[in-house]
Amino acid sequence: MSEAAAITDRRIEILFSAAEIEAQVHRLATEIAAAMAEDVLLAAILKGSFVFAADLIRALHHAGMRPQIDFMTLASYRAGTTSAGAVDITRDLADRIAGRSVLLIDDILESGRTLAFARDRLFSRGAAQIELCVLLDKRGKRKTDIEADFVGFDCPDRFVVGYGLDYAHYFRELPFIGYLESD
Ligand code: IMP
Ligand code: MG
Repeated sequence: MSEAAAITDRRIEILFSAAEIEAQVHRLATEIAAAMAEDVLLAAILKGSFVFAADLIRALHHAGMRPQIDFMTLASYRAGTTSAGAVDITRDLADRIAGRSVLLIDDILESGRTLAFARDRLFSRGAAQIELCVLLDKRGKRKTDIEADFVGFDCPDRFVVGYGLDYAHYFRELPFIGYLESD
């Protein structure tokens, strides 16, 4: 068996279905629209949040918002399921941040190091307001003092994949969120 097949042949147990995710994304958009200015800047952390951000920005449109979007590529996980601890910027936001209301988006909040790093970076570039939105929250795993303002699902303490989240760069394309069986 090839190295790739050894990963992609593993059974995935569904945790949150595509329909459940869609419902939560719409609920989040309604909450965000009620709480934030219409012309918010979405700052999505790549790669993990690209699927969530793509669905959320359209749900926000339906909820009456007229957001802009920009991306920041951060790396904290290398190939594997444990965090390296430090966070690196691979690509920074290109848009003007000073004075803006920013909705910082990530796929999952675990130790909190990634979002704490991104939030500090946005404040140092002059953001006026920063709200945090994550699809998944592993509350038990926090290593920093940070909480999200908008949360899709509480996530059990398992390594999850799909809907943008990867294991060794695989499984981002899954339309649902699941975990690797035997993990
Ligand atoms: P934190 O910095 O520990 O909060 O972790 C956040 C980052 O780690 C996220 O942006 C994800 O890329 C990654 N991550 C954390 N938990 C998981 C998981 O269960 N599956 C896939 N990626 C994860
Ligand atoms: Mg990520």
